[in-house]
Amino acid sequence: MEAKRAAGELAVEILQDGMTVGLGTGSTVYHSIQAIGRKVADGLSIKAVATSIHSEQLARQLGITIIPFSDVEEIDITIDGADEVDPDWNLIKGGGGALLREKIVADASKRLIVIVDESKVVRQLGRFPLPVEVVPFGFELTERKLRALGCEPKLRTADSQPYITDNGNYIMDCEFGSIANPALLAEELHRIPGVVEHGLFIRMAAQVIVGRPDGSVYELDRKQP
Ligand code: A5P
Repeated sequence: MEAKRAAGELAVEILQDGMTVGLGTGSTVYHSIQAIGRKVADGLSIKAVATSIHSEQLARQLGITIIPFSDVEEIDITIDGADEVDPDWNLIKGGGGALLREKIVADASKRLIVIVDESKVVRQLGRFPLPVEVVPFGFELTERKLRALGCEPKLRTADSQPYITDNGNYIMDCEFGSIANPALLAEELHRIPGVVEHGLFIRMAAQVIVGRPDGSVYELDRKQP
């Protein structure tokens, strides 16, 4: 809790008047959005786009100006969490189900700042089941194709029903155990027609801020800049 708060609050220090800011999703970004709300109350002038309905609602409650994505030409900074970060700053995201919008927003951003607690920093991605957003139509076939890539896919559920994303799709949580080549797997996943998007964010991060339980933070060094 303290680790997430520390990382989430530090990331917003970089924000300046006039910026367009991407708001990620999750319990770490929650602290960033709260901190942005306080800064806006103190006079910071920014516009924001949100990666989920949940983050948008929270931001609006705090007085943060939300603009539609269609009005955005470029996002200056996006702050978002992750489920795993490797030494190359590749990420697994989507534990909260928002991976598609998160990737669209990250791709439109000049700078993606990733905020995590120390438990998310791993030597190799894959222990966290990789979320893959799939079209409901024919998802059983998509599931078989995912399994053929060497994972055990599980349809995400909520209240015993398939979990539905903000985009009306399903999520398959794919247990790979370890992912030796994330970039290759990302390409293979995109070749499956029923896959809308996956939670591998390859070399999209510009900075990784890590929080420790004692409330201290550090920036993760990148192995291969
Ligand atoms: C949301 O879909 C995810 O990508 C989150 O960014 C990720 O799951 C991290 O969430 P927490 O900050 O809640 O751990």
